[in-house]
Amino acid sequence: MKDILVLYYSRHGATRELALAIAQGVDSVPGMQSRIRTVPSVSPVTEATEPDIPADGPPYAELRDLEECAGLALGSPTRFGNMAASLKHFLDGTTPQWLSGALAGKPACVFTSTGSLHGGQETTLLSMMLPLLHHGMLLVGIPYTESALSATQSGGTPYGASHVSGAGARESALSHDEKALAVALGTRLARTAARLAGRP
Ligand SMILES: Cc1cc2nc3c(=O)[nH]c(=O)nc-3n(C[C@H](O)[C@H](O)[C@H](O)COP(=O)(O)O)c2cc1C
Repeated sequence: MKDILVLYYSRHGATRELALAIAQGVDSVPGMQSRIRTVPSVSPVTEATEPDIPADGPPYAELRDLEECAGLALGSPTRFGNMAASLKHFLDGTTPQWLSGALAGKPACVFTSTGSLHGGQETTLLSMMLPLLHHGMLLVGIPYTESALSATQSGGTPYGASHVSGAGARESALSHDEKALAVALGTRLARTAARLAGRP
């Protein structure tokens, strides 16, 4: 089995729902399995630290997860049209992997959740691609052959999977189309990784 790292930050659970749908798509591809990881919150109080093990949900990512994965799905809530600082903080610690080229040639995709429909999903998705391009990753999007991409009334973009969570801070369920597109993206990422590894 080859692992696809599904790495996300989620404060209120909406981005986590997308991560789980992407993982479902990954796990549907023979020989591939998802490895779901999150990152701790960064604190404005620099003395404050999160416990080493999260109270619930998946474990925190380690740098070796990046090295061991055959592909990467990277997700964050939108924060002022950009990724959350907690995920950026993790990525800023990946200089050893950049120097060694550990991620070069591996496929990657991105996903995000916003509070509002036009709240910056596409800018967040594009900004999340930038560090991945510096790492030499091969970006995978969602093609319009996925019919939900034309039908969706909320999230789902050619740049990556997305969800509109609404005005409240709390988690809201993915729409049918948002989920279908997230699953399709996970499937496409895993198939691409399998083909790059020389599998049919
Ligand atoms: C500091 C901050 C900035 C935010 N910026 C945006 C934004 O630019 N556009 C938007 O639509 N929603 C914005 N939101 C709302 C979140 O993106 C939205 O609630 C998201 O679904 C949360 O995902 P999560 O449940 O995974 O934490 C912001 C929320 C916070 C706390």
